[in-house]
Amino acid sequence: MTSRLYACRPGRERVLADELARVLPASRHEVHGTGWVESRLASGDAAASPCLAFAAQCLPDPEPIQAPSVSATAQAAAQLVMERLSGHEGPWRFHVFCVETPGSTVRASRCGLVEKQVLDALRRRQKRLVATRVVVSARPWERDEILVQVALVEPRLAFFSVAGSAERERLKGCMSRFPGGVVEVSEDRAPPSRAYRKLLEVELRLGRRISSGETCVDLGASPGGWTHVALGRGARVIAVDRSPLRADLMAHPHLTFVRGDGFSFEPEDKPVDWLLSDIIAFPVRTIGLLERWLAKRWCRCFCVTIKFRGQDDYPELERLKAILVASGADFQLRELTNNKNEVTAFGELG
Ligand SMILES: C[S@@+](CC[C@H](N)C(=O)[O-])C[C@H]1O[C@@H](n2cnc3c(N)ncnc32)[C@H](O)[C@@H]1O
Repeated sequence: MTSRLYACRPGRERVLADELARVLPASRHEVHGTGWVESRLASGDAAASPCLAFAAQCLPDPEPIQAPSVSATAQAAAQLVMERLSGHEGPWRFHVFCVETPGSTVRASRCGLVEKQVLDALRRRQKRLVATRVVVSARPWERDEILVQVALVEPRLAFFSVAGSAERERLKGCMSRFPGGVVEVSEDRAPPSRAYRKLLEVELRLGRRISSGETCVDLGASPGGWTHVALGRGARVIAVDRSPLRADLMAHPHLTFVRGDGFSFEPEDKPVDWLLSDIIAFPVRTIGLLERWLAKRWCRCFCVTIKFRGQDDYPELERLKAILVASGADFQLRELTNNKNEVTAFGELG
């Protein structure tokens, strides 16, 4: 039976298991401790391409490594890497990660040690694998690239997983090229709010930045974190909110401020390069907004947060997934590392 191990944000295990049950109802999904959910797939589900907003990372066909120490884990993992990549001349990535919480028994430092010892072993025994390894997470996947993952779940239990390019493509709705699906962004005190972190994370995940000369519509823009990022990239911004942005942004020559309702705003010159929306509203309204913009093709790229109060509205995401698929967009729907109780839909229209 095909199985998959998913990593998620600590505390989101039940939410992810429920999402899996909505998406793949014939399969079995079980929470395994903090940050982990396992799926045992019904035969018809193995070929599906699930879009899972609450999965940070996916490990297809995970193989247990039971080992008493860091060095024994690294030894076993190095052996598996050499066996599985023996005929692969192309690029590959290597992620060793855990889901760290304040009380967790496995910490990121242990992952660093395992990774170092695996690479040391490869340097001694299979030097070519060290040379073909991709080290920069932000670099987009290459066509024939393989993802090798070691997830440290407990001090004596790890899982090893290999995903070739076809599997990566099939699982792109729940797999990340960042270790454990966690994307760190640099701290910056210049923007007027911490919301800027979400937009920087989306740029990294997309592998595409807002560019100089592009036009962005920023709905629900105040106090201006996202607008600050876009103006900093040299873009023109039409910011729509009921409240003004920080004074320096309001005075920026590339900013047009529209005081009003983001839901009824329609750009004059269409399509714009980016639709950005961080409006606080019920999910059904934000989903409707994105649906309209995509159907009318008013934007080329989009980054839209869907905000929740509690958990009752999470099933609304299934309708959003259907809208995104129907639009033909190359999209991702994720609970970002920098999201609170919200998920973010982002992507490009073809
Ligand atoms: C989370 S804040 C946005 C933060 C912003 N992205 C930033 O980077 O600073 C949400 C904003 O949505 C605005 N908002 C709420 N309802 C709105 C509506 N119907 N139209 C426009 N803006 C709205 C609020 O005024 C608030 O400024």
